[in-house]
Amino acid sequence: MNPFDLSGRTAVVTGGGRGLGAGITRSLLDAGADVVVMSRGEVPADLREHAAARGRVLDHERCDLASDEDIARAAAAVLARHRVDILVNNAGTQERHPAVEFPLDGWDRVLQVNLRSVFQLCQLFGAPMLERGEGAVVNLASLLSFQGGITVPAYAASKGAVAQLTKALCNEWAGRGVNVNAVAPGYMATDMNEALLNDPARSAQISARIPAGRWGTPEDMGGAVVFLASPAAAYVHGQVVAVDGGWLAR
Ligand SMILES: NC(=O)c1ccc[n+]([C@@H]2O[C@H](COP(=O)([O-])OP(=O)(O)OC[C@H]3O[C@@H](n4cnc5c(N)ncnc54)[C@H](OP(=O)(O)O)[C@@H]3O)[C@@H](O)[C@H]2O)c1
Repeated sequence: MNPFDLSGRTAVVTGGGRGLGAGITRSLLDAGADVVVMSRGEVPADLREHAAARGRVLDHERCDLASDEDIARAAAAVLARHRVDILVNNAGTQERHPAVEFPLDGWDRVLQVNLRSVFQLCQLFGAPMLERGEGAVVNLASLLSFQGGITVPAYAASKGAVAQLTKALCNEWAGRGVNVNAVAPGYMATDMNEALLNDPARSAQISARIPAGRWGTPEDMGGAVVFLASPAAAYVHGQVVAVDGGWLAR
């Protein structure tokens, strides 16, 4: 038996159509899972082709994680069509302002998408997992679960909380067959970091600080998520696994 095999399982990936989410979706499909992407945008054709080439189901449910009501509607729609074995809370958002000028509505937007929606989705998809006595949740934490960052106080607060929420849910659910863990990406080349990537001096400074010597890619994320979603991680609970090219070790 291959302990990393996800055949016969269905994963929900929020924001699974682009950025790190697309890399995670691809890796889950490669490992044998069917995937439901929950996002505002479309699922791109190349991702659909990736699934079709492997004989996997790739479903899409439109969902705006800014709205409690839309999250409840979308989760019910997904659960009506699928038994969900794996939940990957990947979607996230970022706003950048000096702390004294940070608008409170921006604070609320970031905390809503990065934290409140994660908790609500854990409740909605976790309940049937707990009833069956098996399942896996993987949350997207960040280097800013450990470090404070600069001019991103809402993001840092949300990701610190995601790490703590992961541990809190682990303490309630590990004994009931549901693994709750997180991955903490380092500096990854996605739309979220467009401003940094477009600043050659800053981008080079960051690469030089990363022991692996380069920014991460969406493809770098999938392996850790597949591991945490798989039988290979049966006894791994409440961990925040950094996928950061060594950044935190420095
Ligand atoms: N990139 C990094 O360096 C880095 C580092 C540490 C942690 N992370 C975390 O990794 C995750 C993915 O980041 P990324 O770099 O791939 O970001 P990204 O390129 O900016 O993509 C953001 C993703 O979140 C989804 N999303 C955002 N707001 C949403 C909303 N209101 N409703 C539904 N979906 C929403 C987007 O999907 P739609 O637009 O289609 O809805 C998209 O798939 C995030 O949680 C992020 O905080 C990223």
